[in-house]
Amino acid sequence: MKTDSLFQSVKLGPYTLSSRIVLPPLTRSRSTQPGNIANELMATYYQQRAGAGFMISEGTQIEPRGQGYAWTPGIYSKAQIEGWRKVTEAVHAAGNIIFAQLWHVGRVSHTSLQPEGAAPVAPSAIAASNVKVFIETGPGAGALAEPSAPRALTNTEVKELVQLYAQAARNALAAGFDGVELHCANGYLVNQFISEHSNQREDEYGGSLQNRLRFLKEIVTAVAEVVGAERLGVRFAPLFASTDEERVYMGLLETDPQATYIAAIKILEDAGIAYLSIAEADWDNAPELSDEFRRNVRQTFSGCIIYAGRYTAQRGVQTVDAGLGDLIAFGRAFIANPDLPKRIANDWPLNEVNPATMYGGTAEGYIDYPAYEE
Ligand SMILES: Cc1cc2nc3c(=O)[nH]c(=O)nc-3n(C[C@H](O)[C@H](O)[C@H](O)COP(=O)(O)O)c2cc1C
Repeated sequence: MKTDSLFQSVKLGPYTLSSRIVLPPLTRSRSTQPGNIANELMATYYQQRAGAGFMISEGTQIEPRGQGYAWTPGIYSKAQIEGWRKVTEAVHAAGNIIFAQLWHVGRVSHTSLQPEGAAPVAPSAIAASNVKVFIETGPGAGALAEPSAPRALTNTEVKELVQLYAQAARNALAAGFDGVELHCANGYLVNQFISEHSNQREDEYGGSLQNRLRFLKEIVTAVAEVVGAERLGVRFAPLFASTDEERVYMGLLETDPQATYIAAIKILEDAGIAYLSIAEADWDNAPELSDEFRRNVRQTFSGCIIYAGRYTAQRGVQTVDAGLGDLIAFGRAFIANPDLPKRIANDWPLNEVNPATMYGGTAEGYIDYPAYEE
């Protein structure tokens, strides 16, 4: 198969990327405890994958309340910034760049992960459904649990959160990251503000579409002031569901995803950010995005567009050749194949991912996936 189009260079903000193959944000839950601190093991993992054209860190919580799964790394304490510096230095030594994915889970959390066992925070006091979080049940042991009932953020707290995003962006630069991505996808906090199902606020952050997009707009503006719009990306997961069960994925419901996300993307275009990342639904039989929607996205946004979600190299080539996307991210394939770009270039076979070692644990299933040997 011809994969040349995935190996053409492309500009992303001030950076020139050597290929179109992206390491997307992948939570692996291997931070050092206590303190949720990035470490040497993680630096090795990222360095092994530095053959990517562009790299984004796993979701890193911007504050203690932003955590929804055991052992995920944060980016709010001094020790966490120092820990991340190990990762960014390893990636830079390998000649690549890496952005930090700034994450706040909102209501997709559990009291056992929250400061003083408090309720998770959310736009409205509505619990997430159709999702499980991963909690710690003992040293090194975890289990799936229902998310706890959240409480609604006050208006003042929402404004404080905007500042927490800006501070996390400052921390990311201090840790040596080359830019940041705002995690606005997959049912987490920003997504919870956007969706009319999880956001039933009566202040200026709820109600009309414009109001539901206000939190997004404010954090994009605040973070762009810190890192520069040319070093900023945003990730969305527009979901075009065909059944009610899919529609309430993570408890979210979009009555009109097309109108919602094109309006959201206009905000990014006006801010002039470097890239838009679209996470497509990735489970079996997931609803697909239409080409009409993708063309609309392309017409609305002039920066780089990344697509992810069950891509094969071939589907990636098609998307790039059709001009619908600029970059293609491979998630599970990159977990299992540290040398994925080389394998794609040479049409070498791929290792299978082991789901049992995806979240939490040791070096096993993390840094021991072998590179291809001819
Ligand atoms: C183990 C695992 C962890 C993930 N963690 C994150 C994350 O922290 N942030 C995020 O935006 N997406 C996350 N995702 C979604 C991936 O970035 C990607 O969109 C998804 O895996 C689909 O791509 P794939 O089909 O090539 O695996 C995760 C996916 C997996 C499998």
